[in-house]
Amino acid sequence: MSCLLTITDLSYAYPDGHSALKEISLHIGPGEKVGLVGSNGAGKSTLLLHLNGILQGSGEIEVDGNLVVPENLGSIRSAVGLVFQDPDDQLFSPTVFEDVAFGPLYMGLPEEEVRRRVAAALESVGMEGRSRRVPHRMSLGEKKLVSIATVLAMKPRMLALDEPTAALDARSRRRLTRVLQQLEETIVVATHDLSLVSEVLERTVVLDDGRIVADGPTRSILSDSQFLRDHGLV
Ligand SMILES: Nc1ncnc2c1ncn2[C@@H]1O[C@H](COP(=O)(O)OP(=O)(O)O)[C@@H](O)[C@H]1O
Ligand SMILES: [Mg+2]
Repeated sequence: MSCLLTITDLSYAYPDGHSALKEISLHIGPGEKVGLVGSNGAGKSTLLLHLNGILQGSGEIEVDGNLVVPENLGSIRSAVGLVFQDPDDQLFSPTVFEDVAFGPLYMGLPEEEVRRRVAAALESVGMEGRSRRVPHRMSLGEKKLVSIATVLAMKPRMLALDEPTAALDARSRRRLTRVLQQLEETIVVATHDLSLVSEVLERTVVLDDGRIVADGPTRSILSDSQFLRDHGLV
């Protein structure tokens, strides 16, 4: 199998000494949709923050053949689109247009291409026609969709989303689920929302206390209720 993401023996301890990731090895191929599940504190967010070099542990991460190291961060950050759990960490511009255009402009793309990308990214998340809205006045569900558009506009090789459905009401959750189902990109979704996992993600990786304790087809992992209980997932 060709690999888009290869993680080899990644361990990470926070500055206070807390060991959050322990010898993680993981391969993800192009087009895969992978759920990264685990109870609170399992290490999901910490792992995502390594994918584009925000945190750097020991071990090795390669994205599309490029090592995630400080000298490659420019290309890594356009290859891995990270969608933070809190959209207020992602959206900071006075208009939706400017937020979604930020990445493509930063990449140095010509204005016309930036406009095309903004329009296409907003359409992919069902937010076309909202480019003049003020991000910080939108609902949480809308902000989450715009956050996804900000990374889609960079045409990343893969998207990594942290708890995309956390705190959403039922309607926003359904809408977000549909958007994720329709994306053609490779996606890794950190979540403890098992219904999102079963509806969208065909492969599941289970983290517990910083270690991978299972990796396989979602259907078989979610059908083992004793295993789910043992790892605090139900
Ligand atoms: N900035 C930090 N300093 C020290 N420990 C942290 C920090 N952020 C997270 N942790 C700890 O690392 C572990 C993994 O956290 P996290 O990756 O946020 O888990 P998850 O996203 O699965 O809930 C937890 O025990 C958490 O308390
Ligand atoms: Mg988290």
